[in-house]
Amino acid sequence: MFARWFYRIRPAVAHKPLRPLSTKHDMVASFGLHNPNVHFTPFTFEWGPLGQASTSDPTSFWKGIKTIAGHGDPTLKEGLAVHQYAANVSMGKQAFVNHDGDFLIIPVQGRLDIQTELGRMMVCPGELCVIQAGLRFKVVLPDGPVHGYIQEIFGAHYELPELGPIGSNGLALPKDFEVPVASFDIDSSDWEVVLKLAGELYHYSQNHTPFDVVAWHGNYSPYKYEMTKILALSSMKDQLDPSAYCILTAKSKITGVSLSDFCAFTPKWVNSLDSFRPPYYHRTMASEMMGMIYGTYAGSSKTLSPGALTCDNSFVAHGESYQAWKKATSEALEPQFQGEGTLSMPFSLAR
Ligand SMILES: [Fe+2]
Repeated sequence: MFARWFYRIRPAVAHKPLRPLSTKHDMVASFGLHNPNVHFTPFTFEWGPLGQASTSDPTSFWKGIKTIAGHGDPTLKEGLAVHQYAANVSMGKQAFVNHDGDFLIIPVQGRLDIQTELGRMMVCPGELCVIQAGLRFKVVLPDGPVHGYIQEIFGAHYELPELGPIGSNGLALPKDFEVPVASFDIDSSDWEVVLKLAGELYHYSQNHTPFDVVAWHGNYSPYKYEMTKILALSSMKDQLDPSAYCILTAKSKITGVSLSDFCAFTPKWVNSLDSFRPPYYHRTMASEMMGMIYGTYAGSSKTLSPGALTCDNSFVAHGESYQAWKKATSEALEPQFQGEGTLSMPFSLAR
């Protein structure tokens, strides 16, 4: 069970009436045939990085979120959305709260100075952070313009994968997740809180800061994690599933099927023998997406630059280029250090 208690200066309910917010935005929450903005397709896709938001268009973190893919619906408490974000201004006296799902935020360029009701987190490229549904937060940009990725899950929470025979020491260790400590402001000026529900925006104002929590306890807190800390597995023989690199997983409503496995590829020694080392040609039930935080990814036939995304849809065959196959089947299988200076993030989208 997840729960948290706030000890705050003023109750969160002390605000002016909630109203619809008629601001144009690019966030999608409902992925069904009824939504004309959603297309179901078996095609393979590659999207470039959003790059920087235009300087003529001041864009804060939540305004700069653009939905790329997803399935399900937050009103059904099942599914997820994949977004890219690009922003160039800090949020002022404004907080954002997402009622639809938990945000997994992965910066590619620029740190995010995130103030939440439970405290502050400085999230750097190479780190991920999770902000659960219902928590008010504000994003300041200490390095100027930013861009990156967000995965949003509906009706589930991220958790560590079960390790089974791996035992207690493997993949992402609980000790490496950092949780904010309570931090409060004394501020009786005007603030606005923007709320997202079923992909629609609402807002209210109040004459005090929402960040006035003096102390809290519970197990429903935001957190961050540096992805290079993962203790990934390797194989001397056949290739392992990407789940060997899983940092966080979320359960779907189908027993044994993840809603998403979020993984990280970090530098590693490849020393498998009598084997085909590149990813096998394969089809998977889950759709597979891949993002890049820094470096150059060498494990795919697609070119992936930092901030870009690829998508191989469910049951569609994919794998290495002919050139990569030829090289892999003719070169000597020497120990090889792969992925130096590279951090990429494959993740699955079950459906
Ligand atoms: Fe794949």
